[in-house]
Amino acid sequence: MTEKVRRIGVLTGGGDCPGLNAVIRAVVKSANNIGWTVIGIKKGFEGLMGSGNSEVLDAHDIRGILNVGGTILGTTNRGDPFKYAVIKNGKTVLLDKSNEAINGFKKLRLDALVCIGGDGTLTIAKQLADKGIPLVGVPKTIDNDLSATVTTFGFDTAVSTATEALDKLHSTAESHQRVMVVEVMGRYAGWIALNSGIAGGADIILIPEIPFDMDKVCKKIKNRYKIKRNFCIVVAAEGAKPKGSGMFTKASDTPGRAEVLLGGIAEWVAKEIHSRTGKETRSIVLGHLQRGGNPTTFDRLLATRFGAAAIRTLRENKFGQMVCLRPPNVVSVPLIEAIGKMKSVPLDSDEIITGRNMGISFGD
Ligand code: F6P
Repeated sequence: MTEKVRRIGVLTGGGDCPGLNAVIRAVVKSANNIGWTVIGIKKGFEGLMGSGNSEVLDAHDIRGILNVGGTILGTTNRGDPFKYAVIKNGKTVLLDKSNEAINGFKKLRLDALVCIGGDGTLTIAKQLADKGIPLVGVPKTIDNDLSATVTTFGFDTAVSTATEALDKLHSTAESHQRVMVVEVMGRYAGWIALNSGIAGGADIILIPEIPFDMDKVCKKIKNRYKIKRNFCIVVAAEGAKPKGSGMFTKASDTPGRAEVLLGGIAEWVAKEIHSRTGKETRSIVLGHLQRGGNPTTFDRLLATRFGAAAIRTLRENKFGQMVCLRPPNVVSVPLIEAIGKMKSVPLDSDEIITGRNMGISFGD
């Protein structure tokens, strides 16, 4: 094995997620242990492009961050070097500033990069790899929607947070004999809703993969009240949609961000339930609570394994790869296999079958 890599950069891009700090710590420790220097690049790819900055990360910088949420490097949903948003004559235009990022990489005298992020960040990483930057990707997302890895760190923490919220909502729902509709994150995939809904004892789970029928939702609620279970917990993924309609979206305030923001489904469902059943109904949006807090044991461990595997991958001079969980091992696959393919909930998955066995309604 020839040792080409000696000085590497590490960055976090896209939305934050519990476990990012654990990856950064594992990258620094594993790299320092073989004599490599690690430069922390601030605010994702922005840090390579002048507006951000960077500094050497050593044992002192990573002390005490294993169990801390967020990212010590900062992150952003803007700053795609290939579609860099600038305001010209009051309008947002997208410019290719990838050469600026490449110059930043050279100026820092880096031999390789570790890019920690979701589909957006990994797509940028792939484009930079195609332009000759030696790098490895580390997948993160609370949504669990990346196809090349069995799971991502952050998901378990988000599901735990949502489950805990459902536990708490049970007592107030029962006391007031109300229907509670809880909106959880997940973008176009229903993993968080499905897993927290089952673990948190929901009666109805609405996910993007199964467009729902309000009549069926209301039938389930009425049946519960008929058997004197005088409350109901509904979990709605932010991407859930009624049959024949689109998802509920909101305008994004991030210039140049291509993806829409989702939200509003719980409020709509709650109003419909009230008007169709007459039951007192409340809606709750868990929102960014699901992205915060300390990573669970599972997420810390996976994040640490990913960070260490990223350094092993670079050490083997394997570039343009992404580390991923293929139990029992963490391996690496070419980035091209990892990006642009969303992992939805299969309709015949064990979780869906389990939910149906438990009498949970999916509104279909
Ligand atoms: O991808 C993670 C995620 O939290 C999604 O579940 C959610 O739709 C989105 O990011 C929210 O983005 P933002 O933090 O920009 O509001």
